[in-house]
Amino acid sequence: MSDKIEDLKKRKDKAKLGGGEDKIKVQHEKGKLTARERIELLVDEGSFEEIDMFVKHRATDFGLNKQHYPGDGVVTGFARIDNRPVAIFSQDFTVFGGSLSETHAEKIVKIMNLAMKAGIPVIGLNDSGGARIQEGVVSLGGYADIFLLNTLASGVVPQISVVMGPCAGGAVYSPAITDFIFLVKNTSYMFVTGPNVVKTVTHEEVSFDDLGGAETHATKSGVAHFIFENEIETLLNVRRLMSYLPLNFMDKPVELEFDVHKVLPEQRLNGIVPDNPNKPYDMKQIISLLVDDNDFLEVQPDYAGNIIVGFARIGGISIGIVANQPQVLAGVLDINASVKGARFVRFCDAFNIPLLVLVDVPGFLPGTEQEWNGIIRHGSKLLYAFCEATVPKVTVITRKAYGGAYDVMNSKHVRGDFNFAWPTAEIAVMGPKGAVEIIFKKEISKAENPEDEAEKKLSEYIEKFANPYIAAERGYIDDIILPQDTKIKLINAFTLLKTKVDKNPKKKHGNIPL
Ligand code: HXC
Repeated sequence: MSDKIEDLKKRKDKAKLGGGEDKIKVQHEKGKLTARERIELLVDEGSFEEIDMFVKHRATDFGLNKQHYPGDGVVTGFARIDNRPVAIFSQDFTVFGGSLSETHAEKIVKIMNLAMKAGIPVIGLNDSGGARIQEGVVSLGGYADIFLLNTLASGVVPQISVVMGPCAGGAVYSPAITDFIFLVKNTSYMFVTGPNVVKTVTHEEVSFDDLGGAETHATKSGVAHFIFENEIETLLNVRRLMSYLPLNFMDKPVELEFDVHKVLPEQRLNGIVPDNPNKPYDMKQIISLLVDDNDFLEVQPDYAGNIIVGFARIGGISIGIVANQPQVLAGVLDINASVKGARFVRFCDAFNIPLLVLVDVPGFLPGTEQEWNGIIRHGSKLLYAFCEATVPKVTVITRKAYGGAYDVMNSKHVRGDFNFAWPTAEIAVMGPKGAVEIIFKKEISKAENPEDEAEKKLSEYIEKFANPYIAAERGYIDDIILPQDTKIKLINAFTLLKTKVDKNPKKKHGNIPL
């Protein structure tokens, strides 16, 4: 018996070394951790239960029959984060460059299937040279099996991808289908075709990092939701993200204890919106004063900065925030902002995370660039997402809510549950200047002094329309509130809405304008 126990220990120790000590050294020299070290950092201490440690590939061509590494380049299993279960796979670059073989794919598919049955999130740590070249189409089949499961699991359990090395070719589409992508600066890259192919086809010279590094995807493509300086910071932030999420679509996010009596009027909120409606201010300041512990996990902070999305808690309740940012492009909605907002709203709705919407929006961005690239198609995604969302939805209009963007930004009309406005709100078809130029065009041009007439009409318009009272008279706004009281109003609203039930008509699935 003791021989057998020793033998098992030896086998496990060998498997834990992956591609061996030399390869581990190379991995470390690149500033990268091993697949197992990453898991250790990510999960609660000692909670990882590995499965399929002894799986071997079945390939025989190109000398592979003589090269076997137990586990075959991916570590899979189950663990806990903040004492809640997760399924994990972590690709091991020290074994055939983490490339994906038939059996490697089968291991990932196995934990994904179990995660869906158990209703627990899946976290994938990607570090792979792509399809195991020696296995050919069998490897491509393995990828397709994973893509299918990513798609089937979408909206069932949260799926998080942490790309910590190469992820190229068709392999990028697995992370792309998942809910969130984390990248590490300097060591991660994702692209469909690499710099060499790009050079051959388009004659462009581009480095790996410029083409598909973390910063590129965080600022230009919008592929990355989070990027961090190093692997440790990245993994700790995966833990942070998980704290806001439920385990699956039937679960609710964890609610933290909160003493509501401690919420006092926050005077600083009264002074943030400037008197001059054309002056910008930082919506993040408002968010920070509203959320518990000033703690806001912003998603895609460096992409489409005219809309802010992210997670926070308010009164202990996990919420998703969507907010216009007057400081960037005056908070206007453009193509990128609409798509960024829509995807976030749909994630929150899929996983029972209530939405707080902070509105200061002058409308949609005009111009040929926007029109020709399909602002109609893309802007409608945000509208669609808010319309179909059935989670608790609370809106606060801090200043401008003009035109179609008023409707889009979780107005009462698209099932906003509580719609508040600050006294500084201006809810109208368009800004006063533009409106006056259109509706009083004739009077102004015929007047003895057109400039004075325009001024007069402008003040009349501002007096009549640039305020929240007409909307409140109609019940489109439930209450006009003092900025200082916003937090307590929100806590009361989200608390009341905890038992909210709403649904959409029965259908196979909707047809969001993609
Ligand atoms: C088999 C691979 C491999 C692969 C790397 N290795 N990629 N083995 N299949 N796809 C092996 C190498 O032979 C090497 O083995 C070890 O992993 C480490 O690789 P290095 O090249 O030494 O590492 P590095 O210099 O860091 O370069 C990493 C790399 C490079 C940039 C990823 O290895 C590379 O270009 N690999 C090929 C990438 C590729 O073209 N993949 C197919 C893409 S198409 P030894 O024994 O020497 O240490 C694809 C389609 C997916 O993935 C389809 C989905 C639909």
